[in-house]
Formats: sequence, structure tokens, C-alpha cells
Amino acid sequence: MVPPAFAQRTTVSVTVGAMTPARIVVVGTGYVGLTTGACLAELGHRVTCVDVDTAKVARLNAGRVDIMEPGLSELVARGLTSGTLSFVVGAREAVRAADGVFLCVPTPMGAGGAADLRAVEAVVAEIADVLPSGCALITKSTVPVGTAQRIRDLLGRSDLPVVSNPEFLREGSAVADFLGPDRIVVGSDTPGAADWVANLYATLDVPAVVTDAASAELVKYAANCFLAMKLSYVNAIAELCDRLGADIEDVTRGMGYDRRIGRSFLRPGPGWGGSCLPKDTSALLRIAESVRFDFGLLDATIEENLAQRDRIIAKIAAAVGGRLADARIGVLGLAFKAGTNDLRDSPALSVASVLCAHGAEVTAYDPAITGDLPGMLVADTPYRVAKGADAVVVLTEWPEFQRLDWAYMAELMHGDSVVDTRNLLEPRAILAVGLSWQGIGRPRAAARTTSVS
Ligand code: UDX
Repeated sequence: MVPPAFAQRTTVSVTVGAMTPARIVVVGTGYVGLTTGACLAELGHRVTCVDVDTAKVARLNAGRVDIMEPGLSELVARGLTSGTLSFVVGAREAVRAADGVFLCVPTPMGAGGAADLRAVEAVVAEIADVLPSGCALITKSTVPVGTAQRIRDLLGRSDLPVVSNPEFLREGSAVADFLGPDRIVVGSDTPGAADWVANLYATLDVPAVVTDAASAELVKYAANCFLAMKLSYVNAIAELCDRLGADIEDVTRGMGYDRRIGRSFLRPGPGWGGSCLPKDTSALLRIAESVRFDFGLLDATIEENLAQRDRIIAKIAAAVGGRLADARIGVLGLAFKAGTNDLRDSPALSVASVLCAHGAEVTAYDPAITGDLPGMLVADTPYRVAKGADAVVVLTEWPEFQRLDWAYMAELMHGDSVVDTRNLLEPRAILAVGLSWQGIGRPRAAARTTSVS
């Protein structure tokens, strides 16, 4: 029997006071699930993480973490040692004594851009009849608005509250983001259920936004799509800077002091990517379509991201004399951002692949990536990419690229062009070794470079 729709509440409260340790099961030990499990154990809960991958569960029980995430291995080790964290195969057994079950299985982009919920639905079907009465089912994965209701329908039980508790973790700082969040968002249509989940985080003493289920589900999309829009906007302003002779660093500095705008997420680059922003922008567009809303602003946000990549390709082509075919291009950075080895929807990899498709000979280096990729050689040292290169292109903002011996890079190169799509390098340092430098939206810095050389 599905519970009746409860009166919608949208309140803001602050979680303070004592936290009662709970028995938590986390289904899925990917990036979100593992971080959630290890951090909830750190907060004092007794956590069992479940996965279908037997080998991975064995590795995790031995303290081996596959993903690159600062602090995560340490938390896993601490949880295993103290006995508050364990890893098992098989959700049915694990959930029998749970107070709350977090669903952290993948929700990839399915056909047509909508989120594919099959993994979530499969888990719900697997555990529906063995969940103890009163156990909260909590979605952490980004799920379309209406998923809580769909899960309630699938469960077919009125004694199980369903709660949406979206995560806002960034790769590379997921543990810090979990343990020091700006806010917790929890939504449910079952009275008291969202407050119970908010209380799991009580020791963090941060604002909790407690809402109905649909609002919590929408917060995640609204936030990520807003970030994507901010980046598309700043990349477009950078293009204007290139055309008008202004400097994007000065422009964003001038914008960022306005507290309504804020300083973060104003760095131009080769476009936004990663495992969330591309997937969530497409999914929200499909959600809008499903209710016949023409979300032109979001559509333009996605289009602008593709246009940015094309502009970067054109810039690189110009740097090698207009012809990419047979040009030798050294690429610095393949990951979608620094601090991760994640190549999912990486703009850097996308640019490098397009260069290859145009017939360029690409050698790439990324401190976190080993093994060759389709069409390109992946070198094990940054200097290898400079050897004989007509141009060197910075695509990911790894700080170590700033500390390279650029005089040696210049010696190794055949041409003299450096295209810095992250505005990472100090133009004068590049100039000083006789190379030319071009960034994004910094035509004057490039001109200064050229004039002194
Ligand atoms: C993002 C959200 O920030 C996070 O809240 C959500 O839970 C998951 O998606 P993440 O994918 O780890 O996190 O990456 P993020 O640091 O947000 O960067 C996203 C993309 O924007 C990257 O491609 C990055 O290089 C780009 N970016 C970010 C810029 O180009 N300029 C900036 O100023 C910031």
C-alpha cells in the first residue's frame, strides 16, 4: 500500500545537538558510495558497504582503494580497523538489520540524455521484501525528479520512508566536501524521515535544507546546471575578451568581488566536463521536455560548451600555421580537471581526440594517466611531449606544469607555440625562454609575450 501524499514542507533548519549512531547500509562502492560509506563511519555510524563486484569488495576489505581521492584510503583504513566499516557482497543479507539504506549506484546518461535508472530499480526490487519496517531508503545518486515516488511505488510498502539526500561532492575533494559541506539537503514526503536523515550529519553542525522529495531531487540538478551555466558564460566572456582586447583575469576579478556572483567557478578553460555536469545538464533538459518546458537557457549552456571546444581547436590550428594534418602536437593534461585520473567526459581528452581525428600527431602526458589511448601516444614524462612538437597545448590545470623546465621544453620543441587553455602558466616565464604564449581571453598577455620576444 503506497502512503498518501503528505503535505509538502519546505523549511530550513540547522542540525545541532547529539547524533544517534545508526546502522547504515550503502549500496554501491563507486566514487559517491565509497565516500559516503567511509565518511558516515567516520561520523560514528556503523556502516556496511555493498557491491556486486566480489574482487572489489575483497580489495576494499584489505584496505585497497582504487579511486584517486585524497583522504579516502585513510578513512577506509580507520573504519576497517575500528570495525565501524565493512564491505560485503549481496544487498539482501546486508539490509536486514539496517536503519537506513543509501542508494549510491550509477545513474548514467541513457538513450536521449535522460538518466538511466535501471540500477536503482534493480536494487529496490532486490531488497524490497527484506527491508525491516521503518528503514529509510535514501537516494544519493542524482535521480530525476519523481524518483522517490517511483521507488515508493516499486516498494509497495507504506512502512518504508523514501528520502532524497543529494550529494555535492567534487572529485579530488570529495572527503573534504562530505565532512565540511556548505549544506545538507534532505527531502521526503514522509513526516519526520528527512529530519532523521539530516540528524545522521548532526555532528557536522551545518545548515540542513529540509524539503519535500521532489524539491530535494531538483536541488541537485539546479545547482549543477547553474555551475555549468556559469562556466559557459565565463567561457563566452573570455571569447569576447579575445575579440575586444580585454583580459578575462581582470574581468572575472572585477566580477568575483560582487558577493552575489562570487569568485569561484569563474576560470575559463577548454569547457566543462567530468562525470556529473554533462550528464546532469542533459538530464535536466530531458526533465524539462517531459513537462513541455522549453529550457532554452540550459540548451544554450550545453551548446556553448561545444562551441568552446571548437574555438580551442581553431586556436590550436592557428598556432601550427592553420593546418592540423601532420602537425606534431604535445598535449599536457588529459584528465577532466587536475587532481583526478578521471577521463569521463574530459574536455581535455575530447580536444586531444579531435586533434587526432584531424590528422595531427598527438603525444600526451598526464601525471595521473598511464597507457596509450586511441590514436595518441601517452608519454611517461612531460618533456617527451615537447620533443619535436610544433605546439604544446595545456589542457588540464595540473600545478606541476607551471614548474616544468620551460627552457628545456623550448629546446626540445620544433616550433615555438604554447597554447594554454587553462591560463595556467605565467606568460612571462614562457616568453623568457623564447616561446610564444596564447591563453584564453588574454590577448594582451599574449601580445606582451610576442612583443618582448
Ligand atoms: C561537480 C560539482 O561541483 C559537484 O558539486 C557535484 O557533486 C559533481 O559535479 P566535479 O565533477 O568533481 O563536481 O567537478 P568540478 O570541480 O565541479 O568541475 C567541473 C568541470 O568544470 C571540470 O571540467 C572543470 O575543469 C571545470 N571548471 C571548474 C572550469 O572550467 N572552471 C572553473 O572555474 C571550475
